[in-house]
Amino acid sequence: MRPGAQRAIGLSFPLVNTDPWTKLARVEDCAVGQGRFVVVGDLELAIFRLADPECFIVTKNSCPHAGGNLAAGEVSGDVVTCPWHQWPFSLKTGACTLSDSVHLRRYETTVIDGYVCAKLDRPTA
Ligand code: FES
Repeated sequence: MRPGAQRAIGLSFPLVNTDPWTKLARVEDCAVGQGRFVVVGDLELAIFRLADPECFIVTKNSCPHAGGNLAAGEVSGDVVTCPWHQWPFSLKTGACTLSDSVHLRRYETTVIDGYVCAKLDRPTA
């Protein structure tokens, strides 16, 4: 288990594609201000539920720096801090304030029938 992985509460779904959206998790299974680890097919993802305004952000779970478990990171506002080396990433833009050379891969996200869904074939960054 990766360091920090114990904080991530994981879900594993078979790939359920309601083209173009893929269901990832029920809304009520995603706590505000925490990451949720989800495996869909061969993709490891992190879902973040933000407040003010409430929204969901879906990213690859692997930190672009060195593979840390982002779902276990601390969330403050719209920033997640990786548990491995504490690099902060904006969940709204994917940018890292410590390095221009790394960027979170995010996916377009919506809620359909109480499920957080994402377009997994088209990452936004
Ligand atoms: S692996 Fe995430 S900051 Fe290093």
